[in-house]
Amino acid sequence: MTDTHIPTRTLNDGTKIPLIGLGTYRLNGPTGVQAMLHGIDIGYRLLDSAFTYENEGAIGEVVRRSPIPREQLVLTSKLPGRHQQYDEAVTTVHESLYRAGLDYWDLYLIHWPNPARGTYVEAFQALIDMKEAGLIRSVGVCNFLPEHLHTLKEHVGVLPSVNQVELHPRFNQSALRALHDELGICTQSWSPLGRKLALVHAPVICALAEETGLTPAQLILRWHYQHGAVPLPKSANPERQKENANIFHCELSQSQMERIDALSLPDGRMAGQDPAFYEEF
Ligand code: A2P
Repeated sequence: MTDTHIPTRTLNDGTKIPLIGLGTYRLNGPTGVQAMLHGIDIGYRLLDSAFTYENEGAIGEVVRRSPIPREQLVLTSKLPGRHQQYDEAVTTVHESLYRAGLDYWDLYLIHWPNPARGTYVEAFQALIDMKEAGLIRSVGVCNFLPEHLHTLKEHVGVLPSVNQVELHPRFNQSALRALHDELGICTQSWSPLGRKLALVHAPVICALAEETGLTPAQLILRWHYQHGAVPLPKSANPERQKENANIFHCELSQSQMERIDALSLPDGRMAGQDPAFYEEF
């Protein structure tokens, strides 16, 4: 095994998660299983899946084939918008487990708030109840805006452990990160490399990469880490998986961090998916 040691942090409910995870969108079927097994071999322990990725079966296959014991893995799935009603959410958590052949998910997240539907509060209550029942270790959300987090607190009395949001140098989410810190919510970053924006080729990123001796991807992922966010880079390629995980032995200076921060734009989302309006089913 060519293991990279990945440190962990403790969530607001006392459970621990690694400080970088492997995104699994489009890692399906035998090639997806192989890619995830490579990731585990390199040292990844957090695999980030979703009901809509249609690879919960592959996650289960990875668990069965991996030499790493189940309890050392942190497995995430997500509730799709079409199943946010309470009873459907409960059924979907069970279906996710049946698909994967697992007894529990470490993290189960609401995939999008879909606020126009008005059902994310009952979905969250369902996930909290599934946690009580032992089917989920930690409950979280994705793409929640501050008003959605406050609504959960008001109506359910509990805050999520994680909010997984679009976060990369073009959209650095500084205000939301500050709110998460205040509320004790862990920020996870999806599309941390800003794939569709080709940020690994941006001139500032390339110049800083050269200055620091990191690759552009490592520089960006280290920037997430130093901001207290947990990046979930997807890669099917073992070399890039290894490159991406190898970010814990370097330090960006304040001014280097600020030069990356300066790339952020108010409308810097990759595909304009503003959770206030965007709908995902
Ligand atoms: P591949 O799977 O061929 O490695 P994001 O997490 O922002 O959505 O980005 C995922 C995309 O970025 C994938 O297409 C992945 O391709 C690519 N990628 C992952 N790691 C790196 C890296 N270190 N350098 C360049 N591209 C990468």
